[in-house]
Formats: sequence, structure tokens, C-alpha cells
Amino acid sequence: MAAALRALLVCFAAALLMAAAEAQLSPNFYKKACPKAMPAIRRIVKEAIKNETRMGASLLRMHFHDCFVNGCDGSILLDDTANFTGEKTAPPNLNSVRGFDVVDKIKAEVDKVCKDNVVSCADILAVAARDSVGILGGSKHFYRVMLGRRDARTASKSAATNNLPPPFFNFSQLLSNFNSHGLNLTDLVALSGGHTIGVSRCTNIVSRIVNDTNIQTTFAASLRRACPPAGANGPAGNNTQPLDQTPASFDTQYYRALIQSRGLLHSDQQLFGRTASATSNGLVRLYSNNPKKFATDFAASMIKMGNLKPLTGKKGEIRKNCRRPN
Ligand code: HEM
Ligand SMILES: *[C@@H]1O[C@H](CO)[C@@H](O)[C@H](O)[C@H]1NC(C)=O
Ligand SMILES: *[C@@H]1O[C@H](CO)[C@@H](O)[C@H](O)[C@H]1NC(C)=O
Ligand SMILES: *[C@@H]1O[C@H](CO)[C@@H](O)[C@H](O)[C@H]1NC(C)=O
Ligand SMILES: *[C@@H]1O[C@H](CO)[C@@H](O)[C@H](O)[C@H]1NC(C)=O
Ligand SMILES: *[C@@H]1O[C@H](CO)[C@@H](O)[C@H](O)[C@H]1NC(C)=O
Ligand SMILES: *[C@@H]1O[C@H](CO)[C@@H](O)[C@H](O)[C@H]1NC(C)=O
Repeated sequence: MAAALRALLVCFAAALLMAAAEAQLSPNFYKKACPKAMPAIRRIVKEAIKNETRMGASLLRMHFHDCFVNGCDGSILLDDTANFTGEKTAPPNLNSVRGFDVVDKIKAEVDKVCKDNVVSCADILAVAARDSVGILGGSKHFYRVMLGRRDARTASKSAATNNLPPPFFNFSQLLSNFNSHGLNLTDLVALSGGHTIGVSRCTNIVSRIVNDTNIQTTFAASLRRACPPAGANGPAGNNTQPLDQTPASFDTQYYRALIQSRGLLHSDQQLFGRTASATSNGLVRLYSNNPKKFATDFAASMIKMGNLKPLTGKKGEIRKNCRRPN
């Protein structure tokens, strides 16, 4: 009787473990297979940011654009071919998402130090995003990134077009978009803090300059000079403006800007003021003067975002080249 029960329990425990191995990511995933992988990723990210500060922002955004399109599966990295159209040409990504060369460089370095193809491209994006904000925010071990994602064999342009939030969304549209990915209002406000680094093209702010009233007058005037509305879809459309006043530093300036109606994107400013809920206004105020709380909440939301529908166990593959399926 006791033996039978024990056998049953062992079986049950084994089933649980297998389910866990299949469904969950872990911070120690590469500890045995390649302990040198994480330092190698950080090294290349650091080098890339040293060469061009903006690259930290670009790598953070790439992970976001990977995760919001059928989960964090490296699908954004697949190149188009004669018989395959991936996500790179979807409107939210086209002429906008960047850093693919840096990802290639990381992959080559990781394969070199691991002497094998063990680290997925999807995990490289998650680690590069974490290292980027860590480096630009001055915290070496910002948070423990979860690992064990595998790479998709395919990608979807239409999913990229439909699932990524555009900058013209209003507050309720932004919230529903995040809800549709299993993320809540705290995640929306904390993760939008990603806009504390990097830049936007003028083409994405012309409507804010022309049509929005919740914008500080002097800020609007300076944007009109930098992004002449008439030229925004002409020659000036590719000009860029910083997403906050300190685009090279992962800080809480983004939230202080929102309180002053100096959000760069229409979608940014939606999170604060009469367009936003009381909770959203409260979170913006909280993060604006509490960098520790922002860091904690941002980290928690990044881990939540990083958990979106990962391919684990035997699903997907570990790509040899991040740009194409094996
Ligand atoms: C809430 C909805 C969001 C909208 C509507 C949005 C929209 C945008 C737009 C339009 C740009 C400028 C792209 C260009 O002009 O080429 C941008 C840049 C950026 N976004 Fe977002 N975004 C959102 C959320 C996020 C999240 C969750 C993150 C990361 C956690 C993020 C990180 C970034 C970064 C770092 C940049 C600058 C990239 C660079 O300089 O290369 N965004 N975003
Ligand atoms: C360094 O950054 C510049 C853009 O500022 C880019 O053109 C160049 O390719 C980068 N070099 C390396 C080695 O990454
Ligand atoms: C697509 O083209 C490649 C060669 O470029 C070929 O190897 C592959 O089998 C083709 N796939 C399909 C689904 O036709
Ligand atoms: C937000 O946009 C949706 C879709 O266009 C619209 O139905 C809704 O009324 C808007 N909400 C506000 C508060 O303007
Ligand atoms: C969002 O979810 C987190 C847990 O993931 C929770 O701590 C937080 O209170 C939630 N926020 C809202 C506004 O429901
Ligand atoms: C401003 O709003 C009007 C009315 O919705 C629209 O037709 C126009 O295209 C917008 N202007 C810009 C520059 O987006
Ligand atoms: C912006 O840059 C892209 C890619 O380099 C180019 O295809 C596009 O024509 C440019 N747009 C404008 C308005 O100059």
C-alpha cells in the first residue's frame, strides 16, 4: 500500500517536473550547458552601446516587438526570402526596428564561447534587453532574466501589424492591447517607461504636433521646428527626436515629462492627464519621483513580458543563424 502510494507520488512528481520543464523558463537554464554565455552577451551589448548609445534602446525595443507577436520566440529576426515574408516589413517594424547586426554578432560570440549551438536567439533578445537597460541605468545586475526560450521556425507579418500598439492609440486602446497580451495597467505604465531611452522618427509625432492639445506650448513649438509638419512624411520624416530629455539614460525623466505634458508620442501622453485613469495618473506620479519603485516594477513587468508564450521543451529549435530557420 505504502509502496504503491510512493510509486504514485513519484510518478506525480515526475509528471510535475516534466510539465515544469516544458512550460517554464528558469534563470539558470544555461548554467550547465554554457556558463560563459551570459557574460559573452553582455560584452557585445556593452561594446555596441559604447559605439552607439542608442543601440541599447534599439535592443530593448526589439525584445518587446518579438514578445508581442506570437510570444518571445525570435520570430522578429527572420529575414524575408523569395518564398517567405516575415515581420521585418510590417509597418511597426519597417525602417524602424534596428540592431539586427548586433544580434548576429552576439550569436557568433555565444556560439564561439559555448563551442556549440545551445543559446536561442529569443533568449539572446531577452538578455540583450536586460543588459541594455542595466548598462544605461547603471545597475550591473538589474534583474534575473528568465531563460530557456526556443526559436520559432516561422513568423507572421500580419500578427506584427495587428498585435503591436501604434503611437496613435488612445488610453483605452493601449490598455486593451496590453490586456490582450495578459498584461495589466501597471505593466502598461511601467513598460512604457522603456521610452526613457531612445528616439522616435518625426513621422510618428506629426499628428501629435498638429492635432493634440495636451502638449506643452514651448515643447510643441520646438517639435514643430525639428519636425516640420509639412515635411514629416517627406524629407523630414526620418528625422528623430529623443523620447525624453535624457535618451541615453535609463531614468525616470520620461514620467516627469508626462506630468509636464512633454510626452513625445501621443500614446505616451495618453498615460497621464485627463485622458488617463486615476490609477494610471497615480502610477506616473509614483514612478516620476521614485526610481527604486520604477526599477522594481519595470523589472517585474519585463519578466512578465518575457514569459509571453515561449516555445520550450521540444517545440521550435535553437537557430544556428538568427536570420533563418535551420
Ligand atoms: C505602449 C505602447 C507603445 C507604443 C505605442 C510604442 C511606440 C513606439 C514608437 C512609435 C517608437 C518610435 C519608432 C520609430 O519612429 O522608428 C518607439 C520607440 C521605442 N520604443 Fe516603444 N512603444 C510602446 C511600448 C514600448 C515598450 C513596452 C517598450 C519596451 C519595454 C518600448 C521601447 C521602445 C524604445 C526603447 C524605443 C526607441 C528605440 C530606438 O531608439 O531605436 N516601447 N516606440
Ligand atoms: C557604430 O555605430 C555607427 C552608427 O553610429 C554604425 O554606423 C557602425 O556600424 C557601428 N560600428 C560597429 C562596429 O558596430
Ligand atoms: C523556399 O526556398 C528555399 C530556397 O530559397 C527552399 O530551400 C525552401 O524549400 C523553399 N520553401 C518552400 C516552403 O517552398
Ligand atoms: C479610443 O478609441 C476608440 C477606437 O477608436 C474609441 O471607440 C474610443 O471612444 C476612444 N476613447 C476615447 C476616450 O476617446
Ligand atoms: C498587475 O499585475 C501585477 C502582478 O503581475 C500586480 O502586482 C499589479 O497589482 C497589477 N496591477 C493592476 C493595476 O491590476
Ligand atoms: C489631424 O486630425 C485630422 C482629423 O482627425 C486628420 O484628418 C489629420 O490627418 C490629422 N493631421 C495629422 C498631421 O495627422
Ligand atoms: C526614410 O528612410 C527609409 C529607409 O532608409 C527610406 O526608404 C524612406 O524613403 C525615407 N523616408 C523619407 C521620408 O525620407
